[in-house]
Amino acid sequence: MVNHVEEPTPAVTKAVVPAAGLGTRFLPATKATPKEMLPVVDKPAIQYVVEEAVGAGLDDVLLITGRSKRSIEDHFDRAYELEEALAAKEDWGKLDQVRKSSELSTMHYVRQTDPRGLGHAVLCAARHVGHEPFAVLLGDDLIEPGDPLLARMIEVRQRFGGSVVALMEVPPAEVSLYGCAAVEATSEDDVALITDLVEKPAREVAPSRWAVIGRYVCDPSVFDVLRDTPPGRGGEIQLTDALKELAGKGEVRGVLFRGRRYDTGNKQEYLRTMVEFAAKREDLAAEFIPWLRTFLRQLPET
Ligand code: G1P
Repeated sequence: MVNHVEEPTPAVTKAVVPAAGLGTRFLPATKATPKEMLPVVDKPAIQYVVEEAVGAGLDDVLLITGRSKRSIEDHFDRAYELEEALAAKEDWGKLDQVRKSSELSTMHYVRQTDPRGLGHAVLCAARHVGHEPFAVLLGDDLIEPGDPLLARMIEVRQRFGGSVVALMEVPPAEVSLYGCAAVEATSEDDVALITDLVEKPAREVAPSRWAVIGRYVCDPSVFDVLRDTPPGRGGEIQLTDALKELAGKGEVRGVLFRGRRYDTGNKQEYLRTMVEFAAKREDLAAEFIPWLRTFLRQLPET
């Protein structure tokens, strides 16, 4: 059981962002474009995630990519021709936008050659991460920047050691879409001890309504466990299964997130996210919201 660690645990500085999925839910858009590059308003979803990592103090981001993902690397790289063209036009605002993504963080890439699941994708990070704790951010989940989830998870890891996952309460009908945790309360209102984890359980057997959302701070011991984790649900090596084993030793805590999470991994929620983000944008809202109101009034009742 990991408890109050006497020795300071190494700082969390590295983020791992799995981005090797096929994105079949968004075909045909994702035939030649990675789903991570689909925009939410005018910024690719993956950039929000990298910005979140950087905002939580992580200055080393490793993307786990696969085939057809080269545009992600280009997005986080310099674009000299474009920059020159914008500078020649003295379009400093756009130039700033273009430069921003290449200056965010030190980016690293490793390819997951076989799509063998999230656990396998995370295992691809083992050599880069080494023996330090690290964060995992799943690109489908966007967290409201004003709700500092990752920073809190890192704090919990620093205090208690072990691994930390983000949990959010979901309606019973939705537990089967997530990893689901059995939890015990702790003295901290927003922290639970996780006693069990099940990947995408049927509603009847789900241990709770606490769903794992796509943020993790993992102890490097998870790599050894992943190496021995057999394929689980869907024939894939599941990160949830590896964390379940660590949870059995009392080494996993959950941060109970009560803020805003946007799931861009399915079409309905992607559309909602787009509308919400647009409505919050100062440069768009004044025109967009009145249009949206009129549009909704004109819609026939369903
Ligand atoms: C993955 C994880 C699952 C987690 C979910 C969060 O599933 O395997 O445990 O709850 O992300 O978004 P996926 O949505 O990739 O199928």
